[in-house]
Amino acid sequence: MKKKKLVVLTGAGMSAESGFETFRDAGGLWERYPVEQVATPEGWAADPAMVTGFYNGLRRQLLAARPNEGHCRLAGMESDMDVCVVTQNVDDLHERAGSTNVIHLHGELMKVCSSAHPDDPRCIRTLGPDDAEVPVGATAADGSLLRPWIVWFGEAVPRLEAAAREVETADVFAIIGTSLNVYPAAGLVRYVRPGVPVYLIDPNPVRLPSGCPVTVIRDVASKGVARLHEALSRQEKKP
Ligand code: OAD
Repeated sequence: MKKKKLVVLTGAGMSAESGFETFRDAGGLWERYPVEQVATPEGWAADPAMVTGFYNGLRRQLLAARPNEGHCRLAGMESDMDVCVVTQNVDDLHERAGSTNVIHLHGELMKVCSSAHPDDPRCIRTLGPDDAEVPVGATAADGSLLRPWIVWFGEAVPRLEAAAREVETADVFAIIGTSLNVYPAAGLVRYVRPGVPVYLIDPNPVRLPSGCPVTVIRDVASKGVARLHEALSRQEKKP
């Protein structure tokens, strides 16, 4: 029998229990680092050394982090379902937990690219533990400054179409740990077909586009994903 397709949209809350701060909660990352300085092309142009240092710090944190139970449970659900993870997160914790189909909407922290042509595949390089600390002034293969492969505010989201195609073929859709404040990612909810069950896992209230019926699991990701898995398994067993 064909497996049901589960598409999951994840955000910073998914990785909170792995030690990462979210962005917009009290004390979140954007309170300490002005977003326009570290996550826009203008911020990069104004001070590439500072931006390089900021992402080097995040990479150090990522190398020391581990996937949490939520990431692991989601990866484990691949034995029962066809799972696609669409993530706004730039960490690689879904992949390290074992998820095999992950779409990164906002880029990947462990990748760097050309600042002249960020999407030129010839200049995109994956870093490892030994070269995760990018030296200030390092250049890409085309001679331009090496920049983080992150989709900054004001930039196009190249994987959006691919993500939308996944969402519109979902049999079940789940939203985990995102405030749904950032578009176009938040707009993916609108691609869910009518009648497809939508679940939302978050310890705090999140506003969804109006008219979207949703089952809310008011919990952190580790426990919430387990509750989702149990709910879906119960439904499968129903005659
Ligand atoms: P936000 O910081 O806006 O939202 C995080 C969400 O996670 C909130 O709804 C929290 O209630 C929830 N949360 C907190 N702890 C949680 C936990 N343990 N388990 C589950 N949920 C928890 O982060 P995002 O919505 O991911 O973009 O932000 C979207 C984008 O804005 C990011 O990808 C980033 C940022 O600017 C870039 O950097 C390009």
